[in-house]
Amino acid sequence: MWNPKDYVVPWLETAKTYSLGDVDDAMAHPEKARMMINECPIPPSDKVVEAIAKAARGGNRYPGTNTAIRTRIGNRYGVGPDQVLVVGGSSEIIDAAMRVFLRPGDEVIIPRPTFSLYEIRATVVGGKPVIVDMTPRMEYDTAAMLKAITDKTKLIIVCNPNNPTGNFIPDDELRRIVSKGIPIFLDEAYLEFYPDKPSKASWIKEFPNMFVTHTFSKAFGLAGIRFGYMIASRELTQYFEKAQVPWSASVMSLAAAEAILDYEEELRNKSAFNNRSVDFFCKVLGEIPGVKPFHSHGNYILVDASDTGKTSKEIVDKMYEKGFIIKTMPLLHGRKGFFRITPGTEEENRNLAKALKEFLST
Ligand SMILES: Cc1ncc(COP(=O)(O)O)c(C=O)c1O
Repeated sequence: MWNPKDYVVPWLETAKTYSLGDVDDAMAHPEKARMMINECPIPPSDKVVEAIAKAARGGNRYPGTNTAIRTRIGNRYGVGPDQVLVVGGSSEIIDAAMRVFLRPGDEVIIPRPTFSLYEIRATVVGGKPVIVDMTPRMEYDTAAMLKAITDKTKLIIVCNPNNPTGNFIPDDELRRIVSKGIPIFLDEAYLEFYPDKPSKASWIKEFPNMFVTHTFSKAFGLAGIRFGYMIASRELTQYFEKAQVPWSASVMSLAAAEAILDYEEELRNKSAFNNRSVDFFCKVLGEIPGVKPFHSHGNYILVDASDTGKTSKEIVDKMYEKGFIIKTMPLLHGRKGFFRITPGTEEENRNLAKALKEFLST
């Protein structure tokens, strides 16, 4: 009998798949509030939708190398279009980075907790994730990350602000990591929620080993449209261009990105709404005895309810019963009661906060 194992690369046997089970579940249960995957609860504006519809009329044609939007994005960072790569979502850069830097057995340093896709894509190419726990206060343990570097380290991941802890790595600590000369993936997926906070893309002149990604899935609120980009030194973009398949961003996602860049108010409104929601949850949940929300610079809030005696799964299951889909978190520093919520509409936020308060206070 034909056995795929005779042909498939062996590391795929143990590689994990990124689960979208909760998204499927949310689609099957539209009556439940979808508060688990860091989406924006506000749909795209008419301006964006009209631009997509217009582009769809030319959907029989392939996109080219997208110089116009690469130039436009590059101008925001003071770099030329050859230092910008546009893709159908920044996850593609996560995947490409593993293919660019890792041979089977090479190590990638990944903090914990963080976005689970880094580890998954590393294992798909046979890379070895070296997981470094954040401190119990959920701050980057820079000393431990530096200590984890070996001759096999080919990539270091820094998510800034980090998902799910919501915090930034201090500049001096990032500088210590970047100064090592090892490729650094700086994921700024959530930075646009704080437009006054400058991107570290300005560092790439000094540190050509660092590359920075952004996405339109979060503060811009276009997760389903799929658009993201990378800013890097020309030394690095030339390799990512080779690793990347052509046409990954569709004409429709390119048009949506252009339209939302033309209409700054949309980003401002969405981020302001999100930041108010985050403050609301932090305040309300922080008042419940035994519950610690971690203030977040993204569109999610990590909560530690371990001291209430409830586990992550118990909390998430109970909220599901009450009509809210939120996300479980693994054991962190031996504590079992972590979970993550993504703010929804104002009504959903109020109702979830009430349900959590009732359950966690008993
Ligand atoms: C830190 C981080 N980076 C990247 C992504 C994926 O973004 P995209 O939709 O651009 O692929 C996510 C999604 O949750 C994320 O949390």
